[in-house]
Amino acid sequence: MKIFITRKIPQKAINFLKNKNYEVSIYKKDQPIERKILLKNIKTADGLISLLTDKIDKEVIDSMKDCKVIANFAVGYNNIDVGYAISKAIIVTNTPGVLTDSTADLTMALVLSCARRINEGEKFLRAGEYTHWKPNLLLGVELKDKIFGILGAGRIGSAVATRAKAFGCKIIYFSRSKNIELEKHTGAKKVPLNYLLRNSDFVSVHLPSTKKTYHLLDKEKLSLLKGSAIFINTSRGEIVDEKELIKILQKKKIHSAGLDVFENELNINPQLLKLKNAVLLPHIGSATNKARTEMAMLAAKNIAAVLSGKPPITPV
Ligand code: DGY
Repeated sequence: MKIFITRKIPQKAINFLKNKNYEVSIYKKDQPIERKILLKNIKTADGLISLLTDKIDKEVIDSMKDCKVIANFAVGYNNIDVGYAISKAIIVTNTPGVLTDSTADLTMALVLSCARRINEGEKFLRAGEYTHWKPNLLLGVELKDKIFGILGAGRIGSAVATRAKAFGCKIIYFSRSKNIELEKHTGAKKVPLNYLLRNSDFVSVHLPSTKKTYHLLDKEKLSLLKGSAIFINTSRGEIVDEKELIKILQKKKIHSAGLDVFENELNINPQLLKLKNAVLLPHIGSATNKARTEMAMLAAKNIAAVLSGKPPITPV
């Protein structure tokens, strides 16, 4: 059986599939696959490993003649028309769990970068501007006793809460359902969204990108943030109305933002790049060797499970 992979992923997963005697072909360039090459290659594939940069829409799914499983190399799957795939009896899988800690760690890195102005300090020093110690140089904020608001109390949101709690923060969260475990471990309290936005010193987004969460944080919601708020997003850019976020950062209506994800990642809004009060990263939440290897292995194992007639390990 044939597996098509839209980008080079950790070799361990490729070897795993080859050892199972699958015919594996991989798009070789280190860039998002051109649409026509994707359409051509998936025609004969029995399984596809896709990336979050691949739009697996109706046209792509209709081109699949033999495909039984689409294994997304990501926990998010907003790049795939899951409903349509399922209607064509194609199973979709993702990679939950294995990137929780790496993404939660990076979230805290952004929190600390914003709170302690780490990027500003680094630029200042490299520019040769550090000539002597100053009592008022780059003053920031501390985490202890601050209110840390988490949007989405799933795996990653909960792992961030555990970390924030260790820094001495009080945790509040907004979620569809109560997370008893999270409350037990961190003393977190479930609150309505507006309450969270009005009262949090740190607001961190950990929601999936769906039709319901698209621009959940719009102009009105963003206007509720405290003047001292630090806003973090390591989930998906589409959850926030980015133009409105840029406006409040330009007008210094909040302290700062730490962003690992953007509304249009192939073409980042140039206004964002001009902001001094924003820390911007190139979607590296899960970028550790461990997480990326485990993501690849989980995708490969999902493919192998489905193609050998077993249930997928982590179906969407
Ligand atoms: C995901 O898995 O959805 C992340 O955004 C990339 O690892």
